[in-house]
Amino acid sequence: QLILDTLHASGTIGDTRTLIIPGQSKPAASSDAQIIIRGALDSLDSREMITYTTHETLSHVLTPEGAQIALEGSHEARVWAALPVKGEGSPVLPEELKKKVGDSAKAGQGNAFKNGWITKEGKGLVKLVASIVDSTQQDMREVDATGSLAAGEKALAELRKRKLIVQRKGQWFTVEKGPNFSTSIAKPETDLTVDMLTSGSWKTATFKKYNFEAEGIPTNGGAFHPLLKVREEIRNIFLEMGFTEMPTASFVESGFWCFDALFVPQQHPARDLQDTFYLSDPSSSLPPPADYYARVSQVHEHGGYGSAGYRAPWSHAESSKLLLRTHTTASSAAMLYKLAAKCRGERTPAESNGGSGELAHEHGDVRAQVSAGILDAQDKSSQSQAKPKVDDDGFRPAKLFSIDRVFRNETTDATHLAEFHQVEGVVADRGLTLADLIGFMRLFFKKLGLENLRFKPAYNPYTEPSLEIFAFHPHLRKWVEIGNSGMFRPEMLEPMGFPKDVRVHGWGLSLERPTMIRYGINNIRTLLGHKVSIESVEKSPAVMF
Ligand code: PHE
Repeated sequence: QLILDTLHASGTIGDTRTLIIPGQSKPAASSDAQIIIRGALDSLDSREMITYTTHETLSHVLTPEGAQIALEGSHEARVWAALPVKGEGSPVLPEELKKKVGDSAKAGQGNAFKNGWITKEGKGLVKLVASIVDSTQQDMREVDATGSLAAGEKALAELRKRKLIVQRKGQWFTVEKGPNFSTSIAKPETDLTVDMLTSGSWKTATFKKYNFEAEGIPTNGGAFHPLLKVREEIRNIFLEMGFTEMPTASFVESGFWCFDALFVPQQHPARDLQDTFYLSDPSSSLPPPADYYARVSQVHEHGGYGSAGYRAPWSHAESSKLLLRTHTTASSAAMLYKLAAKCRGERTPAESNGGSGELAHEHGDVRAQVSAGILDAQDKSSQSQAKPKVDDDGFRPAKLFSIDRVFRNETTDATHLAEFHQVEGVVADRGLTLADLIGFMRLFFKKLGLENLRFKPAYNPYTEPSLEIFAFHPHLRKWVEIGNSGMFRPEMLEPMGFPKDVRVHGWGLSLERPTMIRYGINNIRTLLGHKVSIESVEKSPAVMF
């Protein structure tokens, strides 16, 4: 406003250093004041209310020492001021002087003597003159006010040498009226609106100029969800240990693959409506491979392979129900069945030239086609990676893993959701023992940062023995259950066609639990589901590391 008013009154501003900012007594000569003026000039210029020209200057500013002198006087003046007039008091001894004026005692004595302001008397010092002119202080005040000295460059150079002032580049401006000059600043329009077009006000409106140099609002970078990060970490542990990832795309399974193939009795409570989500449309699956189905139903109803079986009537309806898988062990079962294909005397899809269709047809589900393709790829890669070769009876050792979603019809609370992720590992080889299983788990969990493990006997319909895995959590300071494991039963493996000495062990854990423990999340709903805040995902340490 000051600039506009001055222009209005005098037509031009020849030197902005002469402007007197309202409320200040002196003109705005300092470089700080000119920086503020420049901001105002830029803003008026963008509206084309003014035009201005910049002039460069070299001015001087005080160093901290110079500023102190401007305020309290030069060192020599402070020495002089601390002494009594000769003959009017007792001379001041050097130690006393130091106490009175500090460092100035040393810095100022020389000049005070040279100027003839003080003299020695006995061991002390006294004033030689009754009054002095402290020209150094005056110079400092002049530089502070004007950025220069009337005395000229030689005097300035002297003060620079004494490190009392330094040079600083400055600017000042001459200002003219621009095409949109006015004494009041109208807020420029940023948008052309329908109202402005219909009323015609656009004709007289002032528009803000586009700033093509503006950097714009920074976009947020993408971030992985904490669960995805932990999943990746665990996946890398498996890969590092030589495991192959199983296909787990089929969320919908049949009762056969989710339970029967695993020798889970058809009356088992886990198969209840309260625990499992069943599909209503379609409600039943296509039939599994006929021979295998016959062997599985046989071992359930009448026993075999050294087992008495459950001796309860077999229900085909129960077996063919479609459901959302309650564990990824359903996928493991399907993969193990495929792994045993050669033991059953079948040719693999790779061998039977486009025979994956045949296998898929036998299986009667989409998953079969997907995983048949994956097994194909595995077979090919096995040649290059020197995978275990196939034994005479068609068996080939395997280490498989998966990390994917499972569904349980549970009441949701702070630690339970109806869907969560399972991490699962399966190892198949001849003559594996329980010690191998424990050893594998120790290694696996060590890589996850959990070294202090305990194993507790447990029960699973498909494993014997079964072990629950507990880890001592260093931060929670207690034992927490981290997984479930076991050696798959002969009633499960032998109907698949595995030779009798092949042992398969497996273990499973939830993905959510270690993630929550690791990152101190105590409500699962802040980790998964619609209540997850995007911000927490972006800022979570789990995401950053
Ligand atoms: N399926 C088991 C569960 O849901 C985990 C498990 C996998 C147990 C493999 C033993 C063997 O808890």
